[in-house]
Amino acid sequence: MQLPLLDDMHVHLRQGDMLQNVVPLTRAGGVGRCVVMPNTDPPITTIESAIRYKRELESGNTGIDFLMTLYLCPDLRPEDMVAAKDAGVVGVKCYPQGVTTNSHWGVADLRGYDPLFSAMEKAGLLLLLHGEVPSQSEADICILNAEERFLPEVARIHEQFPMLRIVLEHVTTREAVACVKGLGDTVGATITAHHLELTVDDWAGKNHNFCKPVAKYPHDREALREIVAAGHPRFFLGSDSAPHPRSAKEGACGCAGVFTAPLLLPYLADTFERLGFLDRLHDFACVFGHTFYGLPAPKGKLTLEKVEQIVPPEYGGVVPFRAGETLGWRCRNS
Ligand code: DOR
Ligand code: ZN
Repeated sequence: MQLPLLDDMHVHLRQGDMLQNVVPLTRAGGVGRCVVMPNTDPPITTIESAIRYKRELESGNTGIDFLMTLYLCPDLRPEDMVAAKDAGVVGVKCYPQGVTTNSHWGVADLRGYDPLFSAMEKAGLLLLLHGEVPSQSEADICILNAEERFLPEVARIHEQFPMLRIVLEHVTTREAVACVKGLGDTVGATITAHHLELTVDDWAGKNHNFCKPVAKYPHDREALREIVAAGHPRFFLGSDSAPHPRSAKEGACGCAGVFTAPLLLPYLADTFERLGFLDRLHDFACVFGHTFYGLPAPKGKLTLEKVEQIVPPEYGGVVPFRAGETLGWRCRNS
């Protein structure tokens, strides 16, 4: 089957040697265009650093169209948002403080950012939300309810800035799906390949499936599957592929992140076929994302073949999702 190149609306590509390893693998997984997360070390907080980072990403000559983002922090000024848009930045990513990799520079209180959100709304920049309340912020918050507790903030920002396009990233709960569905056309959500497969039992004690937000209950996974099966146009692919060296995943305090980039399309095809909605793959991975972002359709094509392959144990020291398992599909760039 022929498909357009994938639009991955949320990916971590890192820096330096890891970047050089991961970017060609991302292309091999079928991606032609992607929204690049800014949680590098140091994070991408200026237009200049976004341009420099894009150049580094392009140095691999993969032909991927990298859409850049800025890390929400006090350095971002409302008056710079038009220049950011003109420089090719598509959005600003909000990391609540302490919720995931390199989020210690993140946001303690979102309310101070209303003038920035107003400027973004006018400039046409998207607000990308990591939707978790930090555990230390209130009593009775933990990684299982942190996403649900964040949802009122999404509704508040949407109400205040109705034309600001907001993406609730990597949704994991039935409540988040219902929240996004119930808000207006300017609110969308990304869904990862791995959250369509995992529940709590798959990451507790299994570091390579540990990511943030964590996969939740079976009924939550079912809600993700249902909204994808329904072909809802505001729910689209954002892989959140997040490579960490094996040692960083397997240590006493394992880093959060599941690495799906090298086989992104085969993972999706395998899952979608098994769940009976392979016909939804095209729009979920190749149409809804760029439509929400207001971007044109991509040019290139690839071929998805029904040929089995075994997921390798490692890619340059990074363990991929479902390592050692057999996938029913292979992706050939054409
Ligand atoms: O699991 C995750 N890993 N979630 C994130 O939000 C960040 C990512 C990373 O950068 O490692
Ligand atoms: Zn992410």
